[in-house]
Amino acid sequence: MTKQVQDQIQARRTFAIISHPDAGKTTMTEKLLFFGGAIRDAGTVKAKKTGKFATSDWMEIEKQRGISVTSSVMQFDYDDCRINILDTPGHQDFSEDTYRTLMAVDSAVMIVDAAKGIEAQTIKLFKVCRLRGIPIFTFINKLDRQGKEPLELMEELEEVLGIESYAMNWPIGMGKEFLGIYDRFNNRVEQFRTDEKERFLPLDEEGELAVDHSMKQTSYYKQALEDIMLLNEAGNDFDLEKLKNGKMTPVFFGSALTNFGVQTFLETYLQFAPTPQPRKTDAEEVINPVSEEFSGFIFKIQANMNPAHRDRIAFVRIVSGKFERGMTVTLSRTGKTFKLTQSTQFLADDRETVDVAVAGDIIGLHDTGSYQIGDTIVGGKKTFNYEKLPQFTPELFVRVTAKNVMKSKHFHKGIMQLVQEGAIQYYKTLHTEDVILGAVGQLQFEVFEHRMKNEYNVEVRMESIGNKIARWIQNESEVKESMSSPRSMLVRDRYDRYVFLFENDFAMRWFQDKNENIELFSLL
Ligand code: G4P
Repeated sequence: MTKQVQDQIQARRTFAIISHPDAGKTTMTEKLLFFGGAIRDAGTVKAKKTGKFATSDWMEIEKQRGISVTSSVMQFDYDDCRINILDTPGHQDFSEDTYRTLMAVDSAVMIVDAAKGIEAQTIKLFKVCRLRGIPIFTFINKLDRQGKEPLELMEELEEVLGIESYAMNWPIGMGKEFLGIYDRFNNRVEQFRTDEKERFLPLDEEGELAVDHSMKQTSYYKQALEDIMLLNEAGNDFDLEKLKNGKMTPVFFGSALTNFGVQTFLETYLQFAPTPQPRKTDAEEVINPVSEEFSGFIFKIQANMNPAHRDRIAFVRIVSGKFERGMTVTLSRTGKTFKLTQSTQFLADDRETVDVAVAGDIIGLHDTGSYQIGDTIVGGKKTFNYEKLPQFTPELFVRVTAKNVMKSKHFHKGIMQLVQEGAIQYYKTLHTEDVILGAVGQLQFEVFEHRMKNEYNVEVRMESIGNKIARWIQNESEVKESMSSPRSMLVRDRYDRYVFLFENDFAMRWFQDKNENIELFSLL
């Protein structure tokens, strides 16, 4: 591999922003894109109500609901880095898609609302990042409003998430009295709402403001100094090794909406964020990003992103080497070899043909139905598969039929495509082969219904069969179909594996008492 390509790979930073809805993920994304010069207007979040949408909201249904349903990818340059942000839907019902996106990044930025602290969705997403051991950077947002005490927020991080934290900076006042941040890392105070000239004030060796300034007399400044002293004495030390392993999170305070602290965050983030990381194959071989041969895996498939094109895009995280348009690759699952001629990269408000991309980048491939989520593609002669992407145990189930039986062909085609995309999970009953769909959240069904109608021209009837506990079976040969009952329904999944759908915890325990030899397991 040439030195030039190696340098390009080292310049990549690929991350996702995770947060509970409304914490400010969209606002933050837009400010970052703005700094990278990728968009001209950084104030577009406000425009949700006026009909202009955040650039990451693509699908029609997102527009109708004003939430982001699908993950998207945005690329921009800053300093000497090329940054890929993978947007994740904030709505809890789309956590499956979000989880898979987290498999394709090297680090995560966690946005926390200072008034609300750590919320439910943040905890879920955090756990997935934790599982992968990727570095997590925390941005505590909305300091321009009154929120919880900063020390309380730090405590919450440690107690609720169980991660050590290190404050890179510290707020001086809050809400109406927000004066700025004490930047421990850069040894300066950054003033809120001031002109550019006055923005940064240096600190002296004692860690006090080195210049004469009215701020010194305020109780907020004194309080911040006291807090910092406490952190210096009793807080964690900054530990790069722990940061890299996701065991310590650096914490930044700021206000995305007023664009305060965002640039400081970005610049510090770029210093510490990991470059593209190696990845394991399912045979435990480690593939290095700078290895000669191109390889990558598909973490997301999305149909009809642009209704004018009516196409399907498979999103590939490049793990190693260099992609060049027109190159020949092999799809490891099928062994089929083909040329990649139609490839896309994603910019803030557009996508364009990409000719060259390197490890760390995300490219979109035009898909006519050949790809599946989790597929590996390789450029060299030797084929292999990257470790399987985790599947998630659904909790909600519906029985689904086409309203018009004449549409049955379209119905099955639509279902199969949406299942392959990972939009929904597919099951069938044993003898009648009724279609049962599983989801993590209700909204997934609504999107399914909407897309069946709009993209496949099929109206569906969905009959809820409620919440179920889904369990797969370790020793399938022991299963007898007579074990199926209304309270412990036996079905098959899309890979033809047996799955029990238990009505509730009680039904599951009852079943286990009766059938001790059956070993049940759940997906993630
Ligand atoms: P999300 O993607 O995480 O769901 O959050 P989003 O950025 O859409 O922000 C949610 C709300 O919080 C928005 O207000 C946004 O303007 C506001 N917000 C984001 N960052 C800050 C901040 O630093 N300070 C303050 N005060 N507010 C912030 P909204 O009223 O729900 O929407 P809109 O009417 O502004 O569109």
